[in-house]
Amino acid sequence: MPQILELIRDDHDFIRGLFDELESNPETRDVRCITLRRELPGHIYAEEATLYARLRDMVPEEIRRSLDEHTDIRETLARFEMIPLRDDAWMPALVDLRERVEAHFTSEEKEVFTLTEHHLSPAELFGLGEMFEQEKQKAAKFAVV
Ligand SMILES: [Fe+2]
Ligand SMILES: [Fe+2]
Repeated sequence: MPQILELIRDDHDFIRGLFDELESNPETRDVRCITLRRELPGHIYAEEATLYARLRDMVPEEIRRSLDEHTDIRETLARFEMIPLRDDAWMPALVDLRERVEAHFTSEEKEVFTLTEHHLSPAELFGLGEMFEQEKQKAAKFAVV
């Protein structure tokens, strides 16, 4: 089982790829939207239940800011999902969602990852990796498709 930061980075790269595909390939948009709806909330839920919960008392400011970004992403995703695929507003809404998500991923990979490596031992990172996978599976079970 890889350590949690590797799992998080893999998810980020997968979701970045989904956004590329959504922007460039109209044929697969309906299927990719379903994948995004499962993967993005599952990812942020699993982060909150594991890494954020572990770091909250150590770096409260940083975690509060990251949680605010998660709230913003959830709200932006909910607005995006209200827009039909063929609506003119769909692409601008996708671009807006993508910018918010990617800015959040970048700040996690820079600031949150650095703080994590500073505060947690390698053994803890592996333990959290296992929990992260379990929480994602739980979230997938409850995802509304
Ligand atoms: Fe996050
Ligand atoms: Fe993340």
